[in-house]
Amino acid sequence: MEKWKIGVLGAGTMGSGIAQVAAQNGHKVILVDTNHSQLEKAQKNLIKTLEKLVEKGKINSDDANSIQENIYYSGNLTDFSQCNLVIEAIVESLSIKHQVFKSIEEVVNENCILASNTSSLSIASIGSALKLANRIIGIHFFNPAPLMPLVEIIPAVQTEASITRVSVELIKSWDKTVVVCKDTPGFIVNRVARPFYGEALRIYEEGTADFATIDWAMTHIGGFKMGPFTLMDFIGNDVNYSVTESVFAAFYYDPRFRPSLTQKRHSEAGFFGKKSGRGYYNYSQPLPSPTENEELGRKIFERILSMLINEAFDAVFMNVAKPEDVDLAMTKGVNYPKGLLLWAQELGYDKILNQLELLFDEYGEDRYRPNPLLKRMVKSGERFFEK
Ligand code: NAI
Repeated sequence: MEKWKIGVLGAGTMGSGIAQVAAQNGHKVILVDTNHSQLEKAQKNLIKTLEKLVEKGKINSDDANSIQENIYYSGNLTDFSQCNLVIEAIVESLSIKHQVFKSIEEVVNENCILASNTSSLSIASIGSALKLANRIIGIHFFNPAPLMPLVEIIPAVQTEASITRVSVELIKSWDKTVVVCKDTPGFIVNRVARPFYGEALRIYEEGTADFATIDWAMTHIGGFKMGPFTLMDFIGNDVNYSVTESVFAAFYYDPRFRPSLTQKRHSEAGFFGKKSGRGYYNYSQPLPSPTENEELGRKIFERILSMLINEAFDAVFMNVAKPEDVDLAMTKGVNYPKGLLLWAQELGYDKILNQLELLFDEYGEDRYRPNPLLKRMVKSGERFFEK
């Protein structure tokens, strides 16, 4: 693919990572931030990262130099004028995003694709600020952008098909795993992953097990790289809670996505996790040991897994994405040990349905209602995958 000129707005965690990825793929990048110290920080961090890559023998020093030279740091949007694509990665505020997209549109030519890296706002709402809204698209990277293979591409209702096609082709040429999904709350990953946190919190709140035991069940029995409480502490309880709250509101308060008071209280108390020294765990003390009871652990794991699988079925049922893309998203975006739909198939759809029906019967809560597509596929014997 020909080399494009890529604009990136926002030199924070995501913007600087996206700029690095584009520069590594040979593009000229204009990285713009209104905060000069962020630009300096991004440049220093990149130099350090590239030095490490050279030390490890992943790239040579000529590569490192040309990657650095590919990025032009600027405080001025007008430098986007020659860009073929601008990716916005600034603060998560619709009104601020509207303002900046209006300003960007005044500068770029009419063929320039305008993308947002937003995690929680709708692409349609961001695009509504544009005169040529058919060029808006969501290009959602995962943190850290240079390392995480997944990119979700989200066309809005206004987006022209050719913009989606070209964006997919470009991001694939960066060696990323691309999944296309509908412009719905949480896209794929942040929607399907909700029960990993929510159901774990619910199990804790019912007094079934403590944080360490639930984490142990998911890692030791489930094979996940991190347990839900360790992961929430890693992401930050404030960040994870606000994603949950925004997905809940965006789904018109569907009880499946209801946030947890335990997480709210931890966030209110400033127990954000690793970054504040304390979250569900206190990081200044030795971590507590789990109760290694296999039977209890298996129950916990099976309950959380069936809730995750139910959500994966819902994403397919509601045409958010294709089954294979839902599985790719969870393995490449959040390192799940197996795609949830393949996992369901291996365990038996009937077993998952049975587990959900037991929960639904026991609690009578809508949160546990089995997905219609799961029920349908149990009845018909149809399967998603050949093997
Ligand atoms: P951040 O806070 O690290 O960086 C935001 C940057 O934007 C800052 O450097 C700030 O100076 C700059 N900025 C703010 N307003 C600006 C303006 N009007 N013009 C130019 N620059 C401006 O934020 P982060 O975490 O990089 O997130 C950025 C976007 O990416 C958000 O929309 C977020 O939802 C999304 N996102 C974040 C992920 C994460 O794990 N942090 C993952 C995927 C998406």
